[in-house]
Amino acid sequence: MRSQNTEQNTELLYHFVDRLLEVVSVRPEGWPNVDVSTYGQMMNVLRQRVEALCDFFERKEGTRKEERVVVRLLSECALNLVEITWRQSPDYFTASPEFLKLCTERPEPLLEYDQLYCTPDSTERRVNQILQEIDREEGRVLFMGDDDLGSVALASHFAGEIHVFEFDDRILSHIHDKAPQVQCRHVDLVLGGIPKEMKETFDAIVLDPPWDEYHAWCFLHKALYCMKQSPHARIYLSFCPINTEYLEQKAQPFFRRFSTVGLTFEAISPSFHLYPLANTEFRDLLFQHLTPTESPLLHVLRDLPFGFSNLYKLRRTEHFRRNPITRWFSQWWHSQ
Ligand SMILES: C[S@@+](CC[C@H](N)C(=O)[O-])C[C@H]1O[C@@H](n2cnc3c(N)ncnc32)[C@H](O)[C@@H]1O
Repeated sequence: MRSQNTEQNTELLYHFVDRLLEVVSVRPEGWPNVDVSTYGQMMNVLRQRVEALCDFFERKEGTRKEERVVVRLLSECALNLVEITWRQSPDYFTASPEFLKLCTERPEPLLEYDQLYCTPDSTERRVNQILQEIDREEGRVLFMGDDDLGSVALASHFAGEIHVFEFDDRILSHIHDKAPQVQCRHVDLVLGGIPKEMKETFDAIVLDPPWDEYHAWCFLHKALYCMKQSPHARIYLSFCPINTEYLEQKAQPFFRRFSTVGLTFEAISPSFHLYPLANTEFRDLLFQHLTPTESPLLHVLRDLPFGFSNLYKLRRTEHFRRNPITRWFSQWWHSQ
């Protein structure tokens, strides 16, 4: 695992938010222990300043689309970090020593595999959700891609079956070393198919798919294929809405698609997972698009320490009948 531990992450977060609030001169006395109206007022001013910055890049002659996208992304992430710092106590960002130990010697994330690890406390939060809702004696849980090591975090609390489908053999071997009871299988979730015996057999499917629509749906169709036909089965989807909501105005078709395949949103937990950006290939990729600009606010945003994703909890829509032809085709396409 990257050497950053939980305390370093928390410190980075609080320090970044302090600098951001100071640069726009809105940091209230006693922050983050301020009441709701002080917080609301502060956020209004901050949002206006951030919008003004994004607007500047929208209008600036000769700005490339990639640069506008990066400025928007940094801004929206920063607003989420401020919100979460106010809403949560520092304990929220603390992982257990047991799980931190299991993360040591984890292979480095690779951008070519779309990997960007979330913080260990984010993984544990996700696992706690599963433990609250899925029978720990009889339940069957599937992780579709597991660089965040959710299967390892779950294993010591769960007597049911845990499976991982993943195409990075380094991750599979790390999981096997740390939690041999987890059933690992090399599967390509974009180009490959799911073994037929796994059809509709899981109570919980956990996934943090790539954040572009096409690849996200390759994962999601397979999750649906694996999900039991039961009102209690759940999909735990980690997804960052920035791409769909703010950049491409694709939110409506993206979210409508869930209802067309018979999935309902049961709950959405905002900013549930944080992803450290320091020294990642992902950060380098983003920053290559930024040109030098005289803006104290952008100067601070450049040090954004974390990206975020929401947790979307999904279940099958009751009494839903999918068109039998599209259902048959989807199942054929996504199975082996
Ligand atoms: C898609 S990545 C995303 C992770 C990261 N938290 C993020 O949000 O950018 C999650 C996991 O899926 C795995 N993965 C990516 N593409 C895959 C594919 N085509 N087949 C199987 N696993 C894949 C990665 O190795 C990783 O473990």
